[in-house]
Amino acid sequence: MFNDIILRTIKGEKTEYSPVWFMRQAGRYLKEYMHYKEKKNFIELCSDPKTIYEITLLPVNILKVDAAILFSDILIPLPAMGIPISYTPAPIVNIERIDHKFINNLKEIEPERDLKFVLDGIDLLISKLAVPLIGFCGSPFTIACYIFNNMIAKDFVGIKIFKDLHEKLFFKLMDILTTNLIRFLKAQINHGCKIIQIFDTWAGTLNSLDYKKFVYPYIKKITDSTTDAFKIYFIKNATPYYEFINNLNIDVLSVDWRQSLSEVNSITKNRFILQGNMDPYVLLTNKENAEEKCKTILDDAKSLKGHIFNLGHGIYPNSDVKIVKHLVNYVKSYTLE
Ligand code: CP3
Repeated sequence: MFNDIILRTIKGEKTEYSPVWFMRQAGRYLKEYMHYKEKKNFIELCSDPKTIYEITLLPVNILKVDAAILFSDILIPLPAMGIPISYTPAPIVNIERIDHKFINNLKEIEPERDLKFVLDGIDLLISKLAVPLIGFCGSPFTIACYIFNNMIAKDFVGIKIFKDLHEKLFFKLMDILTTNLIRFLKAQINHGCKIIQIFDTWAGTLNSLDYKKFVYPYIKKITDSTTDAFKIYFIKNATPYYEFINNLNIDVLSVDWRQSLSEVNSITKNRFILQGNMDPYVLLTNKENAEEKCKTILDDAKSLKGHIFNLGHGIYPNSDVKIVKHLVNYVKSYTLE
């Protein structure tokens, strides 16, 4: 039977429990994932529809979570635009010079042609999955953080410097990324993703005026242009930007661990279903401590109009799968009455 609890929660229906999934649920903390990496590197795994399908299913079967997230990465669309990438496992973008010529030569993508391997992976998943599939993209700014990361690595200052010194070119880069990401998300939705998540992990490194000018317009455009799927926006350190985020066309806001969900809910005026927000380090402690921290979040989430349990950021590779499983069972047994 198809488990649609996460869809019902996002629609605002009262559900039996808070649906649960984890950012980076398919990753190195699973020995089953590490078996795949003995044979192929990360990009190879992300380029083959069959391994996309199998790895996406791993956490669904092992953890019994209420949603699957497509196994891929936010930088996977870049090679088709003319931006070479590699992973060590941290992403590396291999570009000598980012100048006028480089940005003007970036290509518009046709997902059905250029990212067919991802869409074929989605097709395989949709025919088999008993939970909804979450599609995703990175935000233009967060992707750009990695494009510039090689130049001056620390704190993503490369992109910050570039936006000040080459503003017109920065906007050009954001425009082409935005066009391509909208196309990619639409293709994922056409192939059956009922939910999409936009990962804007590093926008939280900006001051609020810069967020308004260099990030917000593009997130607004992406969320206004993608209909026919529920939209989740994930950003770390969002506190200075809530007055802008409140105007986004999104259904769910994914919150890091810095503030309680009820505090965020009052600042965002009960507009959104909230997702989160356990600090991922908790999965490195023990079952009892993890359960206690989880209970605090679930108790607090009772005041929300809807809640999806997740972490405030991705699972650490050295997390204990037994604790992760234990939490899934705990969340499912915590009734919302
Ligand atoms: O969540 C999932 O299980 C789905 C797949 C997924 C991955 N990355 C797999 C991955 C998703 C949704 C992402 C998103 C992503 N990628 C983000 C946004 C979320 C976040 O964590 O902030 C970002 C910033 C990236 C960029 C990225 N990719 C980094 C910084 C790294 C290295 C960090 C690390 O885990 O060591 C990656 C590599 C990556 N993406 C791995 C996986 C499973 C590890 C690659 C490997 O196994 O060698």
